[in-house]
Amino acid sequence: MAKTFDVGIESLVSDGTRAPAEHQPVGRQGASVGLLPLPLRAARGAALGDERLGGDVGVAGIAAGKSFFLETFGCQMNDHDSEKVAGVLQGRGYRAVDSPAQADLVLYNTCSIREKAAQKVFARLGDWKTLADGKIIGVLGCLAQQEGEEIFERAPWVSLVCGSASYRKLPELIEQLESGGRRVTGLDLDTDETFETEITRRDNLLRAYITIIEGCDYACSYCVVPHTRGPERSRASDAVLAEARRLADAGYSEIQLLGQTVNSYRDPSPRGWKFVDLLRAVAAVPGIRRVRFTTSHPNDFHRSIVEAIDEVPELCDHVHLPVQSGSTRVLREMLRTYTREEYLEKIEWIRAARRPISITSDVIVGFPGETEEDFAETLSLLDVARYDAIFSFKYSPRPNTSAMHLPDAIPEEEKSRRLAVLNERQRAIQIAANEKLVGQSYEVLVDGCHPARTQWGGRTSCNRLINFTSPRVNLLGEYVQVKITRAGPNSFAGEHVT
Ligand code: 5AD
Ligand code: SF4
Repeated sequence: MAKTFDVGIESLVSDGTRAPAEHQPVGRQGASVGLLPLPLRAARGAALGDERLGGDVGVAGIAAGKSFFLETFGCQMNDHDSEKVAGVLQGRGYRAVDSPAQADLVLYNTCSIREKAAQKVFARLGDWKTLADGKIIGVLGCLAQQEGEEIFERAPWVSLVCGSASYRKLPELIEQLESGGRRVTGLDLDTDETFETEITRRDNLLRAYITIIEGCDYACSYCVVPHTRGPERSRASDAVLAEARRLADAGYSEIQLLGQTVNSYRDPSPRGWKFVDLLRAVAAVPGIRRVRFTTSHPNDFHRSIVEAIDEVPELCDHVHLPVQSGSTRVLREMLRTYTREEYLEKIEWIRAARRPISITSDVIVGFPGETEEDFAETLSLLDVARYDAIFSFKYSPRPNTSAMHLPDAIPEEEKSRRLAVLNERQRAIQIAANEKLVGQSYEVLVDGCHPARTQWGGRTSCNRLINFTSPRVNLLGEYVQVKITRAGPNSFAGEHVT
């Protein structure tokens, strides 16, 4: 699960070709503590006194001596699902290994949000055509749900296919494989349960994820998620708060609440909390200094969320609010349930907050029937919203979605052209906005370092990435004040204010 860390000024505007986080893009950009050298992770894990951090859990389970390799594609929801799957496996005595060649069990936690992501997984599976002998190969996640048993047809060497809505069945499926089962599947969507695990391996030492809502009840016409992750299920607020307290006790000070539509949260327990109630309660957990949440659906984004951010310093001043298109006509075709004007009103609420809140978004270009005028409206929306960053995508037709059947597909070259124009416009906006921040100081949670150790990197509460110099020798995991000395389109350079 290693990611790369670039201490230079780097581009965070996606080119629509890589597979950025679905609905949680910003947290994945740039530095992640997942890149710390392993000894550092281990040292910090030990310091935090939590056996769930890094490394293996010392449990002699049924599979003692067996090993697994797990590769994750896609979004932060998938990253966190993988942490839970790893916890389940380690609880059964499996040991994590770094290369698939050494593993008895090879698992891919997959993404199918765009066609490219799905192709990548099939390419990986193809690698095992002649080498799978003796290994158990499994496909988890969105592609598993989307393709189902078809995967066995395309890759007969696969023995496990399990979608995320069936993860609660994973221990049972693994047990069947351990007792000689050749092919097992978990493909039910009609579950009202969430995936609870006794042990969750935590791969990020500074930011801990908590899923508060799984699945999605919207039906955006381009999106596979309702099909692959099933209907919306919220977790009881007690369970969420207990997890937040455990994480704080383990030394985490930053928590990110996750959900495809995180702000549609509805506490299923008699308390009946709304999202904003849960947000405030998590922020009040002693030891928690930062609470992030992603992804918000504009339809469920209420003024009360902005008020909470204004009042509670622990709530990070960043909102990811995907717009998808600036044209009300296209939004209607996308079944997004809001108009351009309604969306922009919410942006105004956020901009009117007492403390500046950074706003990021997802944008799709080349949706079927998108005219030049529609596209021009998306460009003009960028000028009005003045996002701090966007994730931009070329529309990709997906099976089991209603847009799949829409006429007037936009040619691939035209989609590429629109994507380039969009990214150019956004880049100019970011350059102008970021320049104005030179000279300002921010509190940064240090989450990365250059191997030479003269440079450090970290994120502000508003999720800006700052790389900075410091005379201090060990800053990882600390909150420090950093003054911005230089601005790029997507990140900043600064110096530690001591
Ligand atoms: N084609 C292109 N982009 C898509 N997204 C979701 N489905 C598609 C698709 N079929 C984008 C949306 C969403 C982000 C996670 O991925 O912008 O917010
Ligand atoms: Fe997909 Fe729309 Fe649900 Fe987001 S809200 S997961 S885009 S269907």
